[in-house]
Amino acid sequence: MTLQEEIKKRRTFAIISHPDAGKTTITEQLLKFGGAIREAGTVKARKTGNFAKSDWMDIEKERGISVTSSVMQFDYAGKRVNILDTPGHEDFSEDTYRTLMAVDAAVMVIDSAKGIEAQTKKLFQVVKRRGIPVFTFINKLDRDGREPLDLLSELEEILGIASVPMNWPIGMGKNFQGLYDFTHGRVEVYQPEDGKRFVEFDENGEVPASHPLTKNPFFTQALEDAELLLDAGNQFSEEEVVAGQLTPVFFGSALTSFGVETFLETFLEYAPEPHSHKTVDEEEIEPLNPDFSGFIFKIQANMDPRHRDRIAFVRIVSGEFERGMDVNLVRTGKKVKLSNVTQFMAESRENVENAVAGDIIGVYDTGTYQVGDTLTTGKLKKAFEPLPTFTPELFMRVQAKNVMKQKSFQKGIDQLVQEGAIQLYKSYTTGDIMLGAVGQLQFEVFKDRMEREYNSETIMTPMGSKTVRWIKEEDLDEKMSSSRNILARDRFDHPLFLFENEFAMRWFQDKYPDVELLEQFSV
Ligand code: G4P
Repeated sequence: MTLQEEIKKRRTFAIISHPDAGKTTITEQLLKFGGAIREAGTVKARKTGNFAKSDWMDIEKERGISVTSSVMQFDYAGKRVNILDTPGHEDFSEDTYRTLMAVDAAVMVIDSAKGIEAQTKKLFQVVKRRGIPVFTFINKLDRDGREPLDLLSELEEILGIASVPMNWPIGMGKNFQGLYDFTHGRVEVYQPEDGKRFVEFDENGEVPASHPLTKNPFFTQALEDAELLLDAGNQFSEEEVVAGQLTPVFFGSALTSFGVETFLETFLEYAPEPHSHKTVDEEEIEPLNPDFSGFIFKIQANMDPRHRDRIAFVRIVSGEFERGMDVNLVRTGKKVKLSNVTQFMAESRENVENAVAGDIIGVYDTGTYQVGDTLTTGKLKKAFEPLPTFTPELFMRVQAKNVMKQKSFQKGIDQLVQEGAIQLYKSYTTGDIMLGAVGQLQFEVFKDRMEREYNSETIMTPMGSKTVRWIKEEDLDEKMSSSRNILARDRFDHPLFLFENEFAMRWFQDKYPDVELLEQFSV
């Protein structure tokens, strides 16, 4: 197979949902169809903690939430599928946002009884901003839920995206009969008495009159709804789907593995190939560009406690990765050798020899990389556009409980900060270490991981919320620092103030009108 053919068969996407909508259950079903896991329950067990192989995140198990994004790969219907898992908990939104920069499409899972929930809405906004296609799976049809027509209106009203159903449920809950699948010209029967899951339409495009379904009132209702929608609703347009303006909607029940394979088949038909990516100069780097390029969207330390490793996740944007290749790390201008690289299968990590645009590879890292780094070869020299960052709002002062253990304390802080989930600030006057995060849970994970992974107990003192503003190096003056506007340096040594509130910031501006306060550091 040529490089071009290899790249064209990649389909890289993320599943987004509000916690409990069924993302884990669907992921697992998809992996099963792809032959990547043997039994359903593997991913689920990872979430609930019965799965020894992936026990690298104890806190994930204890809380039943997915703290880290992982990558899963399988082959299906001639396509190479990469699923990027995104944490559902809102405190991890930053990580999730970056992961969404590394995909070409998103699958949005909605609980049919709950409709669009808070986290779905937030994640959808990110996906929408990127203009990537969104496919919707309305889940849990085996339970009583909301009227399907209402759910479609919600997509339009709350999310502001036009939708087009690809199949239609026949009843729900106890009365769930199956899916009226006009896209494939068949009915998918939920619990067929005769064992026949698919009833194909006859030459008139209808379910054969002899079939008992035709006498079922739920079927008649579904037919009416579907006809109404096909006549008066949005028409399917591949162009609009690819542009992220229209979301195809599928119904099903992940738990009973119903409608999931139908979804997967159709999804893979329309999901886009790897897309191009913009550099800081607004140049689009096409996936078929023969020179290798990629960017790091995530760094994760200690994924496997037995190995004590750190992995930088790279989305390949163009060309081909070959084991042992030299690449240019654009930020430093230095050459690095990509020799120890892994790819992710559901049940294990395998050493990878070769990967192409669209794929995600994990590069073992000893402190070389940062989130947002660009790797290139050949004629490609420019960095990709920066990844979105979020200004932390909550702050903690942190110190080692045991002063004799400064070394492991420092190592832990350095590594966890480099992952990008928390920000580090050092007080200019006292040298105190302060951490900033988007949400409280990130501090808890930090504390927990410091203990477990670095054997370093910490004392964390809440500082409440703060507003961060950078200043220019030439404006720096120790005298300006006070308890309400703490002068500090970030991990890149850039000077800044942590203001107690807006009021303190205004007071400061009045007092020092010549000092420019910047929302981002700029040279
Ligand atoms: P998440 O990753 O989006 O957080 O959701 P997850 O797949 O873990 O599913 C959340 C709950 O919803 C689970 O139940 C799961 O079994 C259930 N669920 C998922 N899909 C369906 C479906 O199609 N129908 C029904 N009826 N339930 C579904 P749980 O009680 O939290 O866990 P468990 O008791 O199954 O372990």
